[in-house]
Amino acid sequence: MKKIAVLGFGTVGSGVVETIDINADVITQRTGGITVKYIVDVRDFPDSPYAALVTKDFSVVENDPEVSIVVETIGGIGVAYDFTKRSLKAGKSVVTSNKELVATYGYELMALAKENGVSYLFEASVGGGVPLLRPLKTCLNGDVIKEIYGILNGTTNYILTQMFQNGVSFAEALATAQALGYSEADPTADVEGHDACRKACILTSLVTGTHITQDKVPAKGISGVALEDVEYAAQLGYTIKLLGRCVFEGGKAYSYVAPHLVSRNELVSGVNGVMNGIVVKGNIVGETMFYGAGAGKMPTASAVVADVTAIATNVRAGECFEWSAPSDVSGDPAELKTKWFVRVRGELEAELAGTADGVSAYVTAEMSEKELQTVLSGAEVVSAYRMIG
Ligand code: HSE
Repeated sequence: MKKIAVLGFGTVGSGVVETIDINADVITQRTGGITVKYIVDVRDFPDSPYAALVTKDFSVVENDPEVSIVVETIGGIGVAYDFTKRSLKAGKSVVTSNKELVATYGYELMALAKENGVSYLFEASVGGGVPLLRPLKTCLNGDVIKEIYGILNGTTNYILTQMFQNGVSFAEALATAQALGYSEADPTADVEGHDACRKACILTSLVTGTHITQDKVPAKGISGVALEDVEYAAQLGYTIKLLGRCVFEGGKAYSYVAPHLVSRNELVSGVNGVMNGIVVKGNIVGETMFYGAGAGKMPTASAVVADVTAIATNVRAGECFEWSAPSDVSGDPAELKTKWFVRVRGELEAELAGTADGVSAYVTAEMSEKELQTVLSGAEVVSAYRMIG
């Protein structure tokens, strides 16, 4: 029987504790048993059936040799960072859904885990309940990964779907995403693309084997997406999706996050609501796609508990996710060539143009962002999106 502690009894942490209860029978069959000994949180939960497990004192966990696995679902890079380091130094494996911590200090924490002969696993940090990191490092390990792109943030996909398919206002869609437990503590991280950026960093780090910092992955969110853009996109047979994209070419990784026009012929265009859909292209396998709930209490808990069971049964403990300190492998994503959809005030020479309120819309030939800037120099740009498909 493995004893674990759960740090942070919020949306995901409480989902983890409940999952271990709900699936106790099969978890016991598969692992010999997992029991939650402590829940660490600064808050009190007098009405929770798990109230007796709650402590405010992390050192109780740190100093208890019976606890071999710590689940960190606090989030952020403050206390979560401190408690993770202290857990690993105390010889305890750590499982987390905390993408900000992994994207910021992943290589350091993985090295610390290795030094102490324990694991640091974070399947839930990208794609919520979607199996992605482990399949990338196991099922696709015979391939050279050429590109990964997809919907990496459930909150913004939910908001875009509610706004543009169901006519719900931005504020209302965001409030519902918060109530459903999809969004970050500060939803700006979702809306402005920072959360997707952290996930793109994790994916790029996993593929390159070197830690990719957030400053190497330019990120743009959905706050600038206008209804007019969506209407133009629809006329062209496209939909607007916030995508994280990582292209691996010539020994460099080109990663960024931005809203894209996605052709309705692409599977990703049909990924709606809180769902995430991530396309992985390998040189041998071709195109694969991973799909499922990208946020929310129980889907995220599913991925966390799977990591806990992997450690409890010693499956690939300490070796599954690994990359080294930052090095110079990032290329400038502005060099990547795609078609662009642009709207400008006034007229430009182009093959396709429509006008509304003095605004012209164009689809360009394939070009880099730098080339686009040259084409558009002097024009008043209303919006510009890369196109997929
Ligand atoms: N806020 C995140 C999202 C949670 O909406 O995708 C899951 O990482």
